[in-house]
Amino acid sequence: MRNDFLWGGAVAAHQVEGGFTQGGKGVSIADVMTAGSKDHAREITEGIIEGKFYPNHEAIDFYGHYQEDIKLFAEMGFKCLRTSIAWTRIFPNGDEQEPNEAGLAFYDNLFDELLKYGIEPVITLSHFEMPYHLVKQYGGWRSRELIGFFTKFAVTVMERYKDKVNYWMTFNEINNQRILENPIYSFTNSGILYQEGEDKLKTMYQAAHYQFVASAITVSEGKKINPDFQIGCMLAATPNYPLTSDPSDIIVAQQEDEKQLFFTDVQVRGNYPRWAVKEWERKGYDLDITEEDLQLLKAGTVDYIGISYYLSNTISTRPEAVRLEDDLLGDSALVENPYVSMTEWGWSIDPAGLRHYLNLLSNRYERPIFIVENGFGYADILVEEKVHDVERIDFLSQHIREMKKAIEIDGVEVIGYTVWGCIDPISFTTGEMRKRYGFIYVDRDNQGNGSLKRIKKDSFEWYKHLIQTNGAEL
Ligand code: BG6
Repeated sequence: MRNDFLWGGAVAAHQVEGGFTQGGKGVSIADVMTAGSKDHAREITEGIIEGKFYPNHEAIDFYGHYQEDIKLFAEMGFKCLRTSIAWTRIFPNGDEQEPNEAGLAFYDNLFDELLKYGIEPVITLSHFEMPYHLVKQYGGWRSRELIGFFTKFAVTVMERYKDKVNYWMTFNEINNQRILENPIYSFTNSGILYQEGEDKLKTMYQAAHYQFVASAITVSEGKKINPDFQIGCMLAATPNYPLTSDPSDIIVAQQEDEKQLFFTDVQVRGNYPRWAVKEWERKGYDLDITEEDLQLLKAGTVDYIGISYYLSNTISTRPEAVRLEDDLLGDSALVENPYVSMTEWGWSIDPAGLRHYLNLLSNRYERPIFIVENGFGYADILVEEKVHDVERIDFLSQHIREMKKAIEIDGVEVIGYTVWGCIDPISFTTGEMRKRYGFIYVDRDNQGNGSLKRIKKDSFEWYKHLIQTNGAEL
């Protein structure tokens, strides 16, 4: 493993900060999402409704505890911390002329605190937390105007933190919006809720195009601010396996992979894949894509590929295959994979899938890869101030082992690895606290009760040792 390998942890502003009205922060899309569970979807409400419970409003109050928390990250030896800048702390409504100084000052303090311990900030610009005002007033990323609002925000923070932050990513898991059947994905990626009868796919392509242009402008402008900036895209990396050797299973699985890689294709290569152009012709989509946009996409390709990796999908069109209840892909056939187990939340556990996908991305794009999320959501139990999270240690060691094979045997260039939810965050998909990810337990429950006390889990010492040995002792 290279000596400068970036071991660390990852969180996102809205899932940990809380303080949702402090320092002049505006309402974000995460602030209008109620708590849910695996079987009960989070509700997206029309504004904030009194009497409803919105878990992200307080989250784990990282806003008030960041010094204490960063001290713990430093104790584990983190080389980096990935988090996001809440857009609504900087531009509370998103369309103001001037940024909010209190918000800017908060991140100055946060980054200074990290740098004090030699922890490198790795920053996502948009992680499911755009200003709600932009949704109400402009229809979210349906509107071309969002390009200007986003790039203004991006340039403002890149200017401000140019001497503190080197690693940036534009849009978190930009490919989630390809999942058309569950509103949480279009809402959190793009601030879009589809209307009855709307051609969702067409709207999705248009919104994604505006995001690609915004991302490309951010890369080009960022390089002017500091040519050393490393600016990446971010993909939810989910391999799609064919269940059988039936050629139609192979084709469907391949098509699912392509639908996801569509996003990285544009952000890494700077142009649209041919199959997508064909699809638009076939469907008669007349998208708002100008010549100038295409030039911008070419000029603003990314330096590295950030990925999250949690699970793999298995696909089959065969009648005998066991369909999954929660078929997120909607239009295809997501089925049970007899060779992998599942978490309580129905996510497959597939460490080798990480090696497989790292190879696929590396061979396809020849760009460095940063694993900015990998983690294990589990209902940890606190007994006498201790959490024996052996399952998490096992999950993470297996994944790191596969990552090392990709690096050391296959020659994939991986620049870092950050464990998702290094301190227990609010779950994104369910809004629960019970689905925990951290090395650090936070005393808070699904209803928002608890002292917010931080308690080290067994995995804390394990990860500390792993970093000390640069991944040699798992
Ligand atoms: C990714 C997101 O989808 O997965 C994170 O980037 C999220 O924001 C993580 O928290 C895990 O998902 P969940 O639903 O278990 O929190």
